[in-house]
Amino acid sequence: MLYRPLGRSGLIVSEIGFGAASWWGKPQFSEASAIRLVHDALDGGVTFFDTGAGYSGGHAEPRLGRALKGRAVGLVVASKAGTFAKDGRIGRDFSPAAIVAGAEASLRRLGLETLPLLQLHGPSAAELTDDLRSALADLKGRGLIRALGVNSFDPAVIEQVLNLPDFDVVMVDYNVLRPEREPLIARAAAAGKGVLAGMPLAMGHTGGQVGKLRAPRDLWYAARGLLRHRREVEAGARFGFLGRTSGMTGAQAALAYVLANPGVACAVAGTTRSNHLRDNLAASGMALPPETLAAIRAAQSRLSG
Ligand SMILES: NC(=O)c1ccc[n+]([C@@H]2O[C@H](COP(=O)([O-])OP(=O)(O)OC[C@H]3O[C@@H](n4cnc5c(N)ncnc54)[C@H](OP(=O)(O)O)[C@@H]3O)[C@@H](O)[C@H]2O)c1
Repeated sequence: MLYRPLGRSGLIVSEIGFGAASWWGKPQFSEASAIRLVHDALDGGVTFFDTGAGYSGGHAEPRLGRALKGRAVGLVVASKAGTFAKDGRIGRDFSPAAIVAGAEASLRRLGLETLPLLQLHGPSAAELTDDLRSALADLKGRGLIRALGVNSFDPAVIEQVLNLPDFDVVMVDYNVLRPEREPLIARAAAAGKGVLAGMPLAMGHTGGQVGKLRAPRDLWYAARGLLRHRREVEAGARFGFLGRTSGMTGAQAALAYVLANPGVACAVAGTTRSNHLRDNLAASGMALPPETLAAIRAAQSRLSG
């Protein structure tokens, strides 16, 4: 596993991170299997773990806390505030009081005294108020969080954060389907922000996730794609050639593309299968063959044209 600095935060992260979200965090996925994946990731050198209070109906964050019990020293564990799970729905509240209470609750659920990275989970530009920033500075001052970030798929919000020195990290949706994020990532890196690539596998859709129905989780992945991420499903279907890359799997090619971007510190991939985890970890240090990169660029330009 190779490691990269997370911008100027002072943190170093494994270039493949573990996404503790989605099906991995749900009670329908066995606790033993979920924990085994985290332990395998640790044994494989992963030091970056990403979760959120609102992920997997609120079950992912405490499950990650149980999985990392006794093994969290030296890791960069990241959680998110501003969203929460309630009665099967996702609520949001970016008031300073809610963010402070959320960060404190995340620490309890994760069993940590200091959270290495707290990210605001999808705030609007208007919600990044001076009052909120001062409450976040106070959390840092109290030693409850080490670094601060914003996870947003809205480029305007990320642009705003690039000018705010109190934020160390941004998490953007970056994968072969999102080359338009590249100028933004370059500006973020130039501004000294650590850049995390969320959705580096486009939720599996560049690998034809919707057509692979092997277990109940695959029905859930397919339904999520068809109901909420049609663009990824349709655009991802044009990247089937990734699976024919010489010497690597399609997922490894997708991750190698993301990690070829020098502005990216870590590709955060979620999985529920140990063979997939093995493939993802082995993608660290793999170089994308030039002909695959050329094919990706051609497919991207056909998509945008
Ligand atoms: N999706 C979002 O909206 C979002 C938003 C903010 C942050 N994030 C962060 O980014 C992380 C990753 O996001 P994501 O949307 O890609 O994760 P995800 O929701 O966990 O989806 C990953 C998909 O890719 C498949 N997959 C993983 N490794 C594979 C491999 N080697 N070969 C084939 N298929 C593979 C998984 O299936 P298997 O389980 O079968 O491996 C799953 O269907 C999240 O866990 C979260 O921490 C995501």
